[in-house]
Amino acid sequence: MRTRVGIIGAGPAGLTLAHLLRLHGIDSVVLEARSREYVERRVRAGVLEHPTVELLREAGVAERLDREGMPHHGLSLRFDGADHRIALTDLTGKSITVYGQQEVVKDLIAARLDAGEPIAFEVSDVRPHDVETDRPYITYVDADGTRRRLDCEVIAGCDGSHGVSHTVAPSATHAHDYPFAWLGVLAKAPPSHSELIYTHHERGFALHSMRTPEITRLYLQVPPEERIENWSDERIWDELGRRLTADGFTLTTGPILEKGITTMRSVVTEPMRHGRLFLAGDAAHIVPPTGAKGMNLAIHDVSVLAEALARYFGEGRTDLLDAYSDTCLRRVWRAQHFSWWMTSMLHQAPGADDFQRRLQLSQLRYTATSTAAATSLAENYVGLPYK
Ligand code: APR
Ligand code: PHB
Repeated sequence: MRTRVGIIGAGPAGLTLAHLLRLHGIDSVVLEARSREYVERRVRAGVLEHPTVELLREAGVAERLDREGMPHHGLSLRFDGADHRIALTDLTGKSITVYGQQEVVKDLIAARLDAGEPIAFEVSDVRPHDVETDRPYITYVDADGTRRRLDCEVIAGCDGSHGVSHTVAPSATHAHDYPFAWLGVLAKAPPSHSELIYTHHERGFALHSMRTPEITRLYLQVPPEERIENWSDERIWDELGRRLTADGFTLTTGPILEKGITTMRSVVTEPMRHGRLFLAGDAAHIVPPTGAKGMNLAIHDVSVLAEALARYFGEGRTDLLDAYSDTCLRRVWRAQHFSWWMTSMLHQAPGADDFQRRLQLSQLRYTATSTAAATSLAENYVGLPYK
């Protein structure tokens, strides 16, 4: 089998890339280790930056997003038991949209299948080969157990942080581990507040988010070695209630539909390219979830890559492809700093002393009361312009 671009992974990065390439008339094959049901059900983050929404709109895959997505014009920093609103839209003229990552994935899968282009789900033993030559190829075993070879001109490694693509490349990685994790729950309960609430509390960080007017998404800071078995639904609600307390606020509870623990890491792989292999999304970088940047960075990477490939296949020019890694890394490092900053300001580090806590509170108060500081948070949160 032969294609122009072999795409490994059908997450937001791989699927958006396949879609953008199709709009440019460039054929691709998407190889995904999991089943369609699995990737469509996997609960991940749910905040789309303004430029991400614009891109999905321009690409013609935002019809349901525009109907069901929830535009947000502000968020709350909750500390000292009170809310301090950051007026995202007043400060930047832009908003964010709450729409689950798996909904973006569903829309992109539907768009590709409607266009009559397949996605090879449930493939295994995927391996990129000869990426330093101009005849790279991928070998894999398809869902029927048949061993296959896919010859490509370019390979896009969009297979996330546990994928195979980043292991092929001799890159340098810059990593930082955080001494905490997030316990996330999806609950059948209407949101307790119309906006997201990022809470600083002496018992640990908590976040109130949502998916729909009926479904709340909530998170608690827990130790990295914490096990989900230790957290009954009752204990989760009790802890959320303690941390999210504020005057006039009542936490709406309901049946917990899903719960899990995610560790927090920052990783950047440099460069994001090796010969004909281009890494994109979580395969190249991971951010802690505090700024909600993961999916947005993945989509930015592939928007740069799609344009570079269109220029290459259309005009034979390699300048944008050569600039791909540097172009993406500028945004990646900005998002790393922003996510690290939000994380450090809001979480209780083990062993942190009173001095550090007072510094956090000072930073929170300054961010909430200075227009300059609030605007800095807001412009990073809604997403800096692509160009
Ligand atoms: N072969 C084929 N597919 C693979 C392989 C492999 N060896 N390894 C992993 N995959 C698939 C995964 O099953 C997943 O569907 O690659 C896909 C990668 O998707 P994501 O992990 O969603 O990564 P990405 O598209 O870069 O999107 C980044 O995802 O993890 C979140 O918070 C992160 O929001 C961010 C977003
Ligand atoms: C989410 O809704 O899942 C979410 C929101 C904001 C974040 C992280 C996750 O910072």
